[in-house]
Amino acid sequence: MNAALKGLAVQAPSYVKNAKLIAWVADMAALCKPEAIYWCDGSQEEYDRFCQLMVDAGTFKKLNPAKRPNSFLANSDPSDVARVEDRTFICSEKKEDAGPTNNWMAPAEMRATLQPLFDGCMKGRTMYVVPFSMGPLGSPIAHIGIELSDSPYVAVNMKIMTRMGKAVYDVLGAEGEFVPCVHTVGAPLQPGEKDVSWPCNKTKYIVHYPETREIWSYGSGYGGNALLGKKCFALRIASNMGRDEGWLAEHMLILGVTNPEGKKYHVAAAFPSACGKTNFAMLIPPAGFEGWKVTTIGDDIAWIKPAADGRLHAINPEAGYFGVAPGTNMQTNPNCMASLDRDVIFTNVALTDDGDIWWEGMTDTPPAHAIDWQGKEWTPAIARETGAKAAHPNARFTVAAINNPALDAAWDDPKGVAIDAFIFGGRRSTTVPLVTEARNWVEGVYMAATMGSETTAAAAGQQGVVRRDPFAMLPFAGYNMSDYFQHWLDLGKKLEATGARLPKIYTTNWFRKGEDGKFTWPGYGENMRVLKWMIDRIEDRGEGTEHVFGVSPRYEDLNWTGLDFSAEQFKTVTHIDKAAWQAELKLHAELFQQLAHHLPKELPATKAAIEQRLAA
Ligand code: OXD
Ligand code: MN
Repeated sequence: MNAALKGLAVQAPSYVKNAKLIAWVADMAALCKPEAIYWCDGSQEEYDRFCQLMVDAGTFKKLNPAKRPNSFLANSDPSDVARVEDRTFICSEKKEDAGPTNNWMAPAEMRATLQPLFDGCMKGRTMYVVPFSMGPLGSPIAHIGIELSDSPYVAVNMKIMTRMGKAVYDVLGAEGEFVPCVHTVGAPLQPGEKDVSWPCNKTKYIVHYPETREIWSYGSGYGGNALLGKKCFALRIASNMGRDEGWLAEHMLILGVTNPEGKKYHVAAAFPSACGKTNFAMLIPPAGFEGWKVTTIGDDIAWIKPAADGRLHAINPEAGYFGVAPGTNMQTNPNCMASLDRDVIFTNVALTDDGDIWWEGMTDTPPAHAIDWQGKEWTPAIARETGAKAAHPNARFTVAAINNPALDAAWDDPKGVAIDAFIFGGRRSTTVPLVTEARNWVEGVYMAATMGSETTAAAAGQQGVVRRDPFAMLPFAGYNMSDYFQHWLDLGKKLEATGARLPKIYTTNWFRKGEDGKFTWPGYGENMRVLKWMIDRIEDRGEGTEHVFGVSPRYEDLNWTGLDFSAEQFKTVTHIDKAAWQAELKLHAELFQQLAHHLPKELPATKAAIEQRLAA
């Protein structure tokens, strides 16, 4: 072991009392061989200093403070723009515990693979020790992680996205447990070598060891590959914790909805990446819904634990939003636009001539000139000729939750909020109707398990192809998907046995298209019409019509005040085409074949019942 570095690591600040943590940092430093070790305290002064350091290094551009105070733009390497699902591994001891939907390698083999890659990987760089809490500090639903990273971009993003800093050590104490997360961009610097603005490595590994609850990430500096509290911890590792301990870690937004009488409900909704979770979580009720209010608890991840009252209580483990910028505007999400007025880190959007930012869909009229996300000249004419995008389709903003004008008063409540309904929604141009209520928990689990969605730019790879995305968790379930289904079924049974009223389960599809290729449902704020119907159903006063796989509203069951949407149009978003559903069920059968190991028998039984009803 490199004695000098061990000395550095041992010199933890006096407020760090956890011997296991200090020893782990020493071991990692000995392996990664950074030039220095920096223990982050999470202060504003530290954040500002890191931002300035990145401005000086060319990683950040400071935006015009008159336009966008305290905000920065980073452009990533063009090869490092999204989560890399094919380089993401669940290294459980047994292959069947990772299941057929995850990449797997035996832990010993993966450790042997990573060892030489991590050896000296931080040479010439600083190792930042980033202490963070996923969830309100000290909440019984929260958990602590420590990320070691050689990227100051990661350190500042983690400050926004998590409760990051010194106070975490008070909760951790001398004996507390933490999830060790080690991250490197995989670009050591030789003495005197000049750094690039976005260091990364062509080789990437995003690795999870579920049994030992460890995360190792190599080669990428982007989003969920590098901000390890998010997908790696809060979903892949936490889903394992949840299975073992009887709770749920889900790819869900959480919102509060308050009716004009002041009664409040809480809804958790799972949509795949880049399918509108942030927009739905910040929805502004449209005309016709005076007195209704929607407030945001979270926009991406929910940790949900059964409470003593028999209800499921949810927290948002995150403290900020790492949202998709393109398509966000004053019509689609005014609350989000207001959140982005200041204190934002933008990644891979375009820089305008007045030192501000722009992305496709931000305004009706594009700027006459901008520098695109790759640093090239961009004009509307160039875009027309070459198809060049000003912003990358997976360009992101990182902003603190407290910037959101629609933030729920309970967003930071350590007890969480009691969930009244779950929604599962895929992106489907055809087949799946606007909204369906499951008649019971098992039918709801079936809907969620068989959900399909068209792929988006949030992950590297082909876009727009329908793939099964069970529970919107395909890239995030940290163990065998069939065991995950079983866990949902078991939890439902357990809650039912206590006599508790289970949350209702819905499936939605905001994305049906007409023959002209245009979306037929207006979406965004208008989704309130569907949300209100759900609330009516929760209160046992909403009407609907029962069909082969659940209950959907009739035209007259939704409030149409303020929207010109005819019964004929409604048919185009709700119509259930028998032949399309027969074909869809074949895809469910393929999924069940793939997931045959441990597949709960309730799922093929539900499918058989739907098939029978379809044939009738
Ligand atoms: C995200 C994603 O970044 O799902 O939230 O990709
Ligand atoms: Mn997500």
